[in-house]
Amino acid sequence: MTLSQRKILVTSALPYANGPIHLGHMLEYIQTDIWSRYQKLRGHECYYICADDAHGTPIMLKAQQLGIAPEEMIAQVQKEHQQDFADFNVNFDNFHSTHSPENRELASSIYLKLRDGGYIKSKTISQLFDPEKSMFLPDRFVKGTCPKCKSEDQYGDNCDNCGATYSPTDLIDPKSAVSGATPIMKDSEHFFFDLPAFEGMLGEWLSSGALQPEIANKLREWFDQGLQQWDISRDAPYFGFEIPDQPGKFFYVWLDAPIGYMGSFKNLCDKRGDINFDEFWNVDSTAEVYHFIGKDIVNFHGLFWPAMLHGANYRQPTSVFAHGYVTVNGAKMSKSKGTFIKARTYLDNLDPEYLRYYYAAKLSSRIDDLDLNLEDFAQRVNSDLVGKLVNLASRTAGFISKRFDGKLAKIEDNSLAETFLAKQDEIAEFYESREYGKAMREIMALADIANGFVADQAPWQLIKQEDKQQQAHQVCSIALNLFRILVTYLKPVLPRLSQDVEAFLQLELTWNNLAMDMAGHEIVQFKALMQRVDLDKVTAMVNDSKDNLQPNQAPAKASKKEAKVADKPQSTGNPLVDDPISETIAFDDFAKLDLRIALIAKAEHVPEANKLLKLQLDLGGETKQVFAGIKSAYAPEDLEGKLTVMVANLAPRKMRFGMSEGMVLAAGPGGKDLWILEPHEGAQPGMRVK
Ligand code: MSP
Ligand code: ZN
Repeated sequence: MTLSQRKILVTSALPYANGPIHLGHMLEYIQTDIWSRYQKLRGHECYYICADDAHGTPIMLKAQQLGIAPEEMIAQVQKEHQQDFADFNVNFDNFHSTHSPENRELASSIYLKLRDGGYIKSKTISQLFDPEKSMFLPDRFVKGTCPKCKSEDQYGDNCDNCGATYSPTDLIDPKSAVSGATPIMKDSEHFFFDLPAFEGMLGEWLSSGALQPEIANKLREWFDQGLQQWDISRDAPYFGFEIPDQPGKFFYVWLDAPIGYMGSFKNLCDKRGDINFDEFWNVDSTAEVYHFIGKDIVNFHGLFWPAMLHGANYRQPTSVFAHGYVTVNGAKMSKSKGTFIKARTYLDNLDPEYLRYYYAAKLSSRIDDLDLNLEDFAQRVNSDLVGKLVNLASRTAGFISKRFDGKLAKIEDNSLAETFLAKQDEIAEFYESREYGKAMREIMALADIANGFVADQAPWQLIKQEDKQQQAHQVCSIALNLFRILVTYLKPVLPRLSQDVEAFLQLELTWNNLAMDMAGHEIVQFKALMQRVDLDKVTAMVNDSKDNLQPNQAPAKASKKEAKVADKPQSTGNPLVDDPISETIAFDDFAKLDLRIALIAKAEHVPEANKLLKLQLDLGGETKQVFAGIKSAYAPEDLEGKLTVMVANLAPRKMRFGMSEGMVLAAGPGGKDLWILEPHEGAQPGMRVK
C-alpha cells in the first residue's frame, strides 16, 4: 500500500486540575488514544498532546481550602492524572500544564496580536463582589433564591429546580458561597474579545465541513442569534496569568486553556529538537490539527478558538471532533448509586483493556451519549475478547509448542487469511472516521469465521491420530496466523494485549506486515492473555465508588495533609455554606428513622476493602453486622467496647463481603477527619434515639 506520510497533531480537552479523572473523562482520552495509535500504526507522524487545565477561581479556592499554594495543588493533581492515564495505557506524546512558561509566553503574545489587531475592547461592568473576601464572584459562587420558582439555595446562573437561567444579580437574597456574606455590586474594567468582528470568517468556518453536522448546526443557532463580545479578563485575586500592561487583571481561564494545546506542543518541540512548532501552527501549515472534545465545550472550540487563532494569524484546526457523554446503567453518573466511578477505582478492580474495548465497541463518529452498562460490559468483553479472540490462540498454540517444536507450518490454503486481509481498507477507514464500533464488529465477525474453522477442524482430535499430524499442524498454524491479523487490527484498542501477543509470536505487529508469511516462524510458550471479567470485581468497584462518597456527603472541612481533591463541592470552610441545611421535613418523616444505641461488640478489617471496617453491633440481644467506611479514621481496637448510634431499620444491603444491616452515623470530610457518634454515659444498647 502506498500512503504518503501525514503530519498530524491530536489533542484531547485539558482536564481541570481540581478533581480526579473519572470514567466519563476516560471516554475522551481512550477515543483519542485509539485514533492516535491508529495513525502511528499506519506510519504517520502523529503527536498526541494534552495538559492539565490549571487556572481559574475554583482551583484558587480549592487550594486555599486545602491550605496550600495553588502551584503545589496542581502539581499533585497533575501527578495523579498522569498516573491514571498511564495505567489506562493512554500514550500521550506530551502531558503538560497550562500553568507553564510556554503557555504564559504564547497567551501573552496571542493577546498582544489580538490587541494590536484591534480585537480587544474594554468596558466597565458591574458585578457581584464579596466584601468579606474582597473578590468578585463567578456565577457559580453566588447562591440564593430562584427569582422564578422561589426555590432556595440555587446557583447564580440557573435553577436546579425549575431550570430557569438568569444572572446572579436576579437572585433573591443572594449570598456568597465563599464566605456566606451578602454580595455588593461593584464596578470594574473588563477586557473583551471582539467575536462579532469574526463573523465572516466564522460563517465560512461553520460551513467548511470541519465540524460534525450536529455541532455545526448547534453553533449556527448561536451564530444566527448574533455573536457577542467575549469577556476574557478577571480581577485579582485570580490564579492565572496577568494580562500584559494591565496589573491586577488576569486572563480568564478559557482564554489560555486552548492555547495550552500549543503550549504543550511547544514544550515537546523544545524537549525533542526534531519537531518544528511553526510547521504545525503557521497560517500556511499543511500539517493536520484535530481537537477531540466533549459536547459541552463546543462553543469554545467551534467559535472562540478558531476566531482567536485567525485574529493572531495562526492556522485553523483541521477538524474538531465532539463526542457525547458517558452514562452508567442508563443514567447520569451518580455518586449515591456508586456509578460515579473514578479512573483509579476502576483500575484498582479491573483491567483497563476491558474498558478500552467496550468504549471502542460502542463509539461512533456521532455525538450520542454512550451508556456503560455494567452487565453488558462484562458480557461483551467476555464473549468477544476472551471467548473469541484469546480463545483462538489458547486452543491452538499449545499443540505448536508441544508437537511441532514451536514452529509454524507453511500454510497450503491461504484463503481464510486472504478473506481477512481483504477487510483491511474497510477497517482502516472505520478507524480513520472514528467509527470504532463498526471496526470492532467487522473484526469480531472475522474472529467468528476463524473460530468456526477451528471448531470444524477440531485440532484436538486430529492431534490424537498418527496420520493427521500434518493436518493438525496446518490448522493450528492457520489459526495463529489469523489470530495475528486480528490482533494487528485491534492493536490501537488493546495495546497491552498486543504487546503480550508480540512477545508470544516473537514479532512486531504492524499494518505493513499484515500479509507476512509465517512459515517456519518460531513462537514461544502461550501464556494466558486476558482473564474473564469477574462480576464480583465489578460489584466491588461500584461499592468502592459508594464508599468514596461518604467524605463528600458530610459537611466539608479543610484537611491540610490530604491534597487529594474532592470532586465537585468547593469547600468554603463554613459547613452551612458548603452543605446547607436540607429541606424541612414533617415529624412523621423523621419518625420513620429507627435510630438505636449500639454497642460495638466487634470491629475487624475487611482484607479486600480499602475503606471498610466490619462491625458487629449489639442492640441488647440482637446483633447486626454493618460495613462502615471509617477505616481511614479508626483502628478496630479503638472501637470495640464503645457505644455508638446506628440506623437500625435501613434495608439490608448485600455487599461483596457480606450483608450490611444498617449504618453507623459519622460526621466530617473523610480521610482521617471522620468522627462517629457516641452517646453520653448511661445510655444502654438497644435504646431508641428520638
Ligand atoms: N478544562 C476544560 C477543557 C479545556 S480544553 C482547552 C474541561 N475540563 S473537564 O475536566 O471538565 O473535562 C475534560 C473533558 O472530559 C471534556 O471534553 C469533557 O467534555 C469530557 N467529559 C467530562 N465528563 C464527561 C462524561 N461524563 N462523558 C464524556 N466526556 C466527559 O472541560
Ligand atoms: Zn427556580
